[in-house]
Formats: sequence, structure tokens, C-alpha cells
Amino acid sequence: MAERVLITGGAGFVGLHLARRLVRDGAEVVLLDDFSRGRADADLDEVRRRAEVIAHDLTTPIPDGSVRGDFDAVYHLAAVVGVRRSNENPGHVLRTNMLATLHLLDWCAARSPGALFLSSTSEVADGAMRTGLSTFPSPEGVPFVLADPRAPRSSYALSKIVSETLFLQRSSQFRIRIGRYHNIYGPRMGYSHVIPEFIERALSGADPFAIHGDAQTRAFCHIDDAVEATIGLTRLGTADPVVANIGNDKEEIKIRDLANRVLALAGVRPELAISDPPAGSPDRRLPELSVLRRTLGYEPKVDLDTGLRATFDWYARHRRTDADRDGR
Ligand SMILES: NC(=O)c1ccc[n+]([C@@H]2O[C@H](COP(=O)([O-])OP(=O)(O)OC[C@H]3O[C@@H](n4cnc5c(N)ncnc54)[C@H](O)[C@@H]3O)[C@@H](O)[C@H]2O)c1
Repeated sequence: MAERVLITGGAGFVGLHLARRLVRDGAEVVLLDDFSRGRADADLDEVRRRAEVIAHDLTTPIPDGSVRGDFDAVYHLAAVVGVRRSNENPGHVLRTNMLATLHLLDWCAARSPGALFLSSTSEVADGAMRTGLSTFPSPEGVPFVLADPRAPRSSYALSKIVSETLFLQRSSQFRIRIGRYHNIYGPRMGYSHVIPEFIERALSGADPFAIHGDAQTRAFCHIDDAVEATIGLTRLGTADPVVANIGNDKEEIKIRDLANRVLALAGVRPELAISDPPAGSPDRRLPELSVLRRTLGYEPKVDLDTGLRATFDWYARHRRTDADRDGR
């Protein structure tokens, strides 16, 4: 029988790539999204032909009967994401992400899907790294530390810390899988992340070209590798909960060098205008991937040049519109 999966946040960046891959694998896929950020675009339409799409806001309980049938796995991706949103409305981020997790878990309790995947974030480990409780690359086993609770952007990390904790409390009922995404990128990722933002400005011919925090480093992971790891983790047979970083540890890169690669793809050479990094942004982010390697034999396959080129080409074909200017 075909695998049945539910993906919350399924119209978003990771959710839709995940749905596409699962549909290709022959799974029956149901997407749930409130479309606050997920897009009802041609990419969603293409998946919709082979998957069910349900519009629902998870800050309210899932009504009985609205999501029908049993599921082998539930991927919980729905969340308010993005530094800008956390800075502008930390209460909204905390409230939405915590309520969404609580309502999803309540719904699952009555249906017992085999596996439950939570999309968490590298940011849950930022506090421990910043306070010197661990060294890079950052492993999963660091304690949760909120280094600056006054900073609005800490609302996002806190919401994921709470969600991870709530998921882990259910490990006697479900196969709990927590994937901490580290800087995932690729086509259709919105416009408020460093890669699409650089691409958009390079394509628009911005000169001077602003770079905030040029010496900070990140290790970017292509969406295809992230999807592979997400599905692999969720399908793992072990009953024990698994918490794993999902990322690419092979090509840590300075933000300035990333900008230069994007500018080279666009064929432009503007003057660079370097300024301080955004407040609260970590100088470095690099995942330790031994859990994924040990459990799945995972190795990231898409190198940055290849992934960046494909992402650049996608954005060149999908230029930003006024409708995208709400922080997507
Ligand atoms: N992309 C990354 O690099 C990254 C890094 C760390 C963590 N994550 C996590 O992965 C998940 C997916 O991220 P993404 O990059 O695809 O973001 P995204 O914004 O593209 O997707 C999130 C989806 O959740 C939906 N959503 C938001 N609030 C909702 C609600 N109340 N009810 C129902 N749906 C709701 C949005 O409409 C959107 O489609 C998120 O949980 C995010 O925190 C992503």
C-alpha cells in the first residue's frame, strides 16, 4: 500500500519540495497550510494534481473530519519563520509556532501516525555556541540556552525549543524525529533570505551592493539534500527519538565570498558597501552531521556552485513582484 503522509506548512519552501519528492516516490500526500506565507503558485498547482491541499490555520485546532484517513508519517513544518518577522512581532512568532505544535500533537494523539517529524532549526543551538558551552561544528547534544531573551529574534529559537520539548514528550507514542535545518536554500525559498536577496539585488543591478557582516560564515545546504535527510530520518525504523542536524558541513563560506559568487553569476561588478552584521546574528554556523552519517549514511551531494547556479536561474525566471514584498 502507498505510504500516506501529511505535511503541515506544505505550501512553503521546504514543504513543497518535500511534497514533490514524496509524490514522486508514490506516496499519497496531504498538504495543510494557512497560506500566510505559502504560495498558491504554479509549483503548488503542479503538486496539487497529485496531492490533496487543505487550507487551515494551525493556531486553531484541526476540526474533526477535515483531514481524513490514517497517516504513516506527519511532517510538521508549519511555522512563522524569518528574522524580520521575529524582530517585528516576536509575540506572533511565539504564539503561532507553539499553538501550531500543540494543535498538531493533539490531533495526532487521536490518530497515531507512525512517525512524527518536526522541522527545527540551528538557532536552538546558537545560545550554547555563543556562551562557549560547545565548539564548532555544533553538535545536537548542546543544552538549550537563550543567550539574550530581550532580543525579539530569540522568540523564534524559543518557539522551536518548546516544540522540540513537546515532541520529545510524545516519544512513547510515536517515532519522534527532529531535524534541525541549517541554512537550507534552493528555488522558491521566498525573498527574505541572504541567497535570494543577493540574487535579486544582483539581477536588479544594485550598485553599491550592500553586504551586512561580510566576514560571518555559513554552510549552505541545498534543498534536495535536506529533503533526502528529512525523509530518511522519518522512515528510520528505530522507536527511539532521533534529533539530527540537517545541513552541509563541506563548504563553509564567508558572506562576502557568497556575494561575489552571486555577482559573478549575474555578470556584474558593483562596488561593495560593507556594514555591520544584523544584531544578534551569529558569526558562524556549521553543523556537526555525525548523527545523520551514522543513521543514514548521509552525505550532502549538491555542491554550492551547482546549487547556487540552479537557484540563481530559478530566480532569474521568477522575478520578485509587489505581491512578494510582504516579507516572503
Ligand atoms: N529554510 C530553512 O533554512 C530553515 C532553517 C531552519 C528551520 N526551518 C524550519 O523549516 C520549516 C519550513 O521552513 P520554510 O523555509 O519552508 O518556511 P516557509 O515560510 O516557506 O514555510 C512555512 C509554511 O508554514 C505555513 N504556516 C505558517 N503559519 C501557519 C499556521 N498558523 N497554520 C498553517 N500553516 C502555517 C506558511 O504559510 C508556510 O507555507 C519551518 O518550520 C522552519 O522553522 C527552515
